[in-house]
Amino acid sequence: MKGVIQRLDHIGIAVRDSRERLGFWADLLGLELERAEAVPSEGVRTWFLDAGRTHIELLESLDEQGPIAKFLKKKGEGIHHLCLEVDDVDAILLRLTARGIDPLSPGVRDGAGGCRVAFFHPKVTGGVLLELSQKPRETTPRQELPFSPGHLVVLYLSNPRERLVGVIRSLDATGLSLEGMDLEAWDDWVSQHARAEESPISPSLQYFPMSRVDKMLADQDSPNLPSFTRRFEERTGRRLSETLTGLLESGS
Ligand code: CO
Repeated sequence: MKGVIQRLDHIGIAVRDSRERLGFWADLLGLELERAEAVPSEGVRTWFLDAGRTHIELLESLDEQGPIAKFLKKKGEGIHHLCLEVDDVDAILLRLTARGIDPLSPGVRDGAGGCRVAFFHPKVTGGVLLELSQKPRETTPRQELPFSPGHLVVLYLSNPRERLVGVIRSLDATGLSLEGMDLEAWDDWVSQHARAEESPISPSLQYFPMSRVDKMLADQDSPNLPSFTRRFEERTGRRLSETLTGLLESGS
């Protein structure tokens, strides 16, 4: 059967001051901030916190006339909506509308992160706004990709839009640890090595859950751009694998 609920994706909480509330949820409770996103069309800024198999979404109003501002005025801070992840939002919509239960606005909408969403009014759910959300197909790399520890990759994070270059130290379906640096620091780092400077920018080891990874590209030559590894070696006359202490040990 299509139109099956997969899990509780997140609980949305309307807050007046996100910095104050992040102080509790992130700093004190220790939930990791996965992404922050402003959705001007909805008049809202959202903060997604990783809560294990689900998320807490803090919603702050950007617009006096927006839905969150109205919610806060009417009810104060509190649970604004629940979001269930579904395999096929169209199939569920069809089933519900056939029973006379219509979504808030007709049809399926494009939500944050490429999701397709539909909302149902609190009066049909028992007092809470319900979001049904279908994830876009395959936005995260899967385990069978030809990446393994020791490979140099360029990592694109979904949000905030960070790009990193580095060597995979460990990798499984849930996440990877990368020893490397911000893509923007790479050129400086290479320059320091080319000039044999004393205190180069040092790569750091960071862990990224797959949910934060937008895409990952292998470092390889392309027709008009040589690989990072090749550029490093041509500019410095040194082998990248020997320069990055402890790096590439399983890849070369
Ligand atoms: Co939401």
